[in-house]
Amino acid sequence: MTTFGISAECGRLIEYDTVDELRSLCADGMLRDALPLGGGSNMLFTRPQCDITVIHCRNADYSISPDNTEDAALLTAAAGCVLDNLCRITSEQGFWGLENLSGIPGEIGGAAVQNVGAYGTEFSDVVKSVRCLDTRSNTIVSFTADECRYGYRDSRFKHLPSPADLIVVEAELMLSTMPKPNLRYAALAEAFGHLKPEELTPSMLREEVLRLRNGKLPDPSSTGSAGSFFKNPVVSAEFHREMQQRLGIEIPGHPASDSEIKLSAAWLIDKAGCKSFTCGGASLWPSQPLVIVNTCGKATGTDVIGLENKIISRVHDVFGVMLTPEVIHI
Ligand code: EPU
Repeated sequence: MTTFGISAECGRLIEYDTVDELRSLCADGMLRDALPLGGGSNMLFTRPQCDITVIHCRNADYSISPDNTEDAALLTAAAGCVLDNLCRITSEQGFWGLENLSGIPGEIGGAAVQNVGAYGTEFSDVVKSVRCLDTRSNTIVSFTADECRYGYRDSRFKHLPSPADLIVVEAELMLSTMPKPNLRYAALAEAFGHLKPEELTPSMLREEVLRLRNGKLPDPSSTGSAGSFFKNPVVSAEFHREMQQRLGIEIPGHPASDSEIKLSAAWLIDKAGCKSFTCGGASLWPSQPLVIVNTCGKATGTDVIGLENKIISRVHDVFGVMLTPEVIHI
């Protein structure tokens, strides 16, 4: 149930279909200290046995309805919807919003927690609200996008005393029927920048995003990984300047705020000379060293952590920057 393809056993697995079912599990005390799992694309089970209850939503219902404005549509999707299925369906039907997220593994529940993102778009750019079961009161609560406190791969759901305090059951996403191509990502601007928005379709962007991903990222059906293993570190502009002076090289980065720069973790890992690092069955994907892969399908959680620590330590020695994992360790 995780994309890393690392064997691990949990104490108990509960799969539910309806919110009523989830509420009665909650009433029976079955969700206490449970771990909600989506598509398992951002999780590393570090031990072969862990005595926890894993809870997974099997409901993949969705509906698309017109919003009260003419040029928007509301997509309501249950937590168990596979994000890329929604990207494909909405793109094919001509709705704008999810096309740049094409190919991201995982389900709506995980996307809402993690604020997944790629190719210039984040989940938070399209989300309108997120509905959750608050297991502390066994009531359904709804959060607006603002209340979800989205940040870079971050949300309020990642800062709960226990991850099962709020279990995402559904998200509402706002899509556009008017052309709204997002070409912020340089490779997309290069491919489509010469065209007018009305000459583009969401499917054209989706196809290009999938092509870019296929060229850089491992195919999840054959090579286990959890996508980007580390976050792109954000440092102060002053630290960035000082770092460039100290090392006498230009260090690529993008403004993250007025006074902060987001560095490329892939670049740091590459330039620190980590690309060939391995640990047991874990190695780095050659064309995107931000991705730790389960080399021959035999990696263990300990191998991945070993490689992670080697990389963190080398990048810190060379650049003075501390990488932090994006992948959740269980
Ligand atoms: N690079 C190197 N050496 C290499 C490969 C790449 O130096 O061998 C450098 C290049 O400078 C290049 C940069 O790395 O410019 C890579 O940048 P890119 O925009 O391709 O990807 P990223 O910043 O490394 C982020 C997300 C990905 C997302 C891509 C595309 C994070 C942690 N990762 O990666 O998300 O697909 O942008 O938008 O923000 C994920 O979260 O699982 C994920 C795959």
